[in-house]
Amino acid sequence: MSSLAFPLADPARRVADADREAIRAAPGFGQHFTDFMAHAQWREGEGWGSDEVIPFGPLQLSPAAAVLHYAQEIFEGLKAFRHEDGTVWTFRPEKNAERLQRSARRLALPELPTEDFIASLRAVVQADEPWVPSPAGEQSLYLRPFMFASEEFLGVRAAHGVDYYVIASPAGAYFPRGIQPLVVWISDSYARAGAGGTGAAKCGGNYASSMLGKKEAQANGADEVLFLDSETHTAIDELSGMNVVVITKDGRLQTPALTGSILEGVTRDSILQLAADRGLAPSEDRLVMSEVLDRIASGDIVEMFACGTAAVINPIGEFRSAVGSWTIGDGGPGEVTMSLREELTGIQYGRIEDRHGWLT
Ligand code: COI
Repeated sequence: MSSLAFPLADPARRVADADREAIRAAPGFGQHFTDFMAHAQWREGEGWGSDEVIPFGPLQLSPAAAVLHYAQEIFEGLKAFRHEDGTVWTFRPEKNAERLQRSARRLALPELPTEDFIASLRAVVQADEPWVPSPAGEQSLYLRPFMFASEEFLGVRAAHGVDYYVIASPAGAYFPRGIQPLVVWISDSYARAGAGGTGAAKCGGNYASSMLGKKEAQANGADEVLFLDSETHTAIDELSGMNVVVITKDGRLQTPALTGSILEGVTRDSILQLAADRGLAPSEDRLVMSEVLDRIASGDIVEMFACGTAAVINPIGEFRSAVGSWTIGDGGPGEVTMSLREELTGIQYGRIEDRHGWLT
């Protein structure tokens, strides 16, 4: 039972139709925001309340809000897709609700019940329905739920006052070059997350610690950065905000096992299921980077891709490091990669039967 209803409290903000259409023609990723956002508050001893949908706009926050000092913050990312018949669907939102709850436990934040999480998404999508793009061009409405310690307090302890919001942004391809094969820089200087740390939680701090690696990647002409495990610095963890998948020449699919420092991606999980359906013998393994590079060179690994909600499935064409470069297959988008992408997006946009019941 949902206890929060997220009523539309103030219908004031409306971007003009012409401006909204101009944004929808070329949305990019994360640059434009819709008319409304959902909001709820949590207070120690009182629980969740003050749920409402309000116009998108700046937040009023104390400079002493704990999040600004101690980064007690978590978030989610998921998309709403319009189908050809005009209806609007989200993809496995209960998985995002459960991950937000796991992240909340790790960051000592309050858990938002799954029904309330889904009610908040539904309220924003209903209020912002004109912003949900048509299925042409594989655009979607990216939903960004987030929760943070808003209490005005500088002592170091779990906050007694927390705010939760859902904002929405029309989205096209995540990478500026579209779904062209990525060049990925192997970081040997930095790690994204450590053992016992917050790597499996979706919290801002993990992304903050990836920024310098990403800058280094870009300085070396790469699109993305790959982080290795922090303990041995040998095994593949993930990219700055995406999981990694390998396809072998004998048709097997491998991805790094969940070690506690890797994000449990909803797209990753869906790909493991689709791969099992196709008999690709999916496995979750410890993938040692030097061995992966040898297997690329020997032709045992023929395709690799990055996956995540924002990035969907994006081929990786080349690895680069301080000591060399390795082209995967012929460097172009692999057949299995693109066919998994076609199947996943086909389900999301209602072109392919939703046999696993993933759409809400
Ligand atoms: C997502 O895929 O939804 C994320 O939060 C990752 C980020 C790279 C945008």
